[in-house]
Amino acid sequence: MTGPAVTVSDLRDTPHFFDAVADRIWRAWWEPHGFPLSHIEGLLENSMGKDTQSLCLVAHDGARFVGTASVIASDLEERPDLTPWVAAVWVDPPFRGIGIGGAIVLKAARAALDTGVVAVHLCALPGKRAFYERIGWRLDEKDVGEDRLDVFSMRRS
Ligand SMILES: CC(C)(COP(=O)(O)OP(=O)(O)OC[C@H]1O[C@@H](n2cnc3c(N)ncnc32)[C@H](O)[C@@H]1OP(=O)(O)O)[C@@H](O)C(=O)NCCC(=O)NCCS
Repeated sequence: MTGPAVTVSDLRDTPHFFDAVADRIWRAWWEPHGFPLSHIEGLLENSMGKDTQSLCLVAHDGARFVGTASVIASDLEERPDLTPWVAAVWVDPPFRGIGIGGAIVLKAARAALDTGVVAVHLCALPGKRAFYERIGWRLDEKDVGEDRLDVFSMRRS
């Protein structure tokens, strides 16, 4: 059996995935804190406009949504000086463990660095440290904020 034929697209070019992306991000990070779906839909609209610093990537197997990662200006209240960030990394459960998450994170980081910034940042719970370090992110800080997050960066090579 062959694996999925996954393509990664800019959400601007594949707007029919907007609802799937909003749904996954909302369920994973916003719904548990009581935010309505419209809140994340509003944030995601920023990735549909002309601002090249805001980007949402979609991994898909034809018309089937597989995963997503975004580049956003700010992600961590405690580090307002750092920008941009790779955030909202999600792969649907049936597609996990075959390299799609790593690939989409690296594509988002590359897109951010290609805009000319010196570094791109990412924050995650410590349980994800091995995953991000293995694909080349540098651990800059631990235990940041209430959630005791790791903060990583990736620089232009
Ligand atoms: C975190 C997440 C995005 C990873 O996505 P993924 O597609 O499973 O990621 P990858 O397949 O690239 O890597 C996952 C694991 O599979 C392993 N793997 C990668 N390619 C592989 C392959 N071809 N064969 C076997 N294993 C492989 C990786 O080494 C990695 O191992 P680890 O869990 O010990 O780090 C996904 O689990 C997810 O959506 N989780 C919920 C949301 C979340 O936590 N997001 C991150 C917020 S910071």
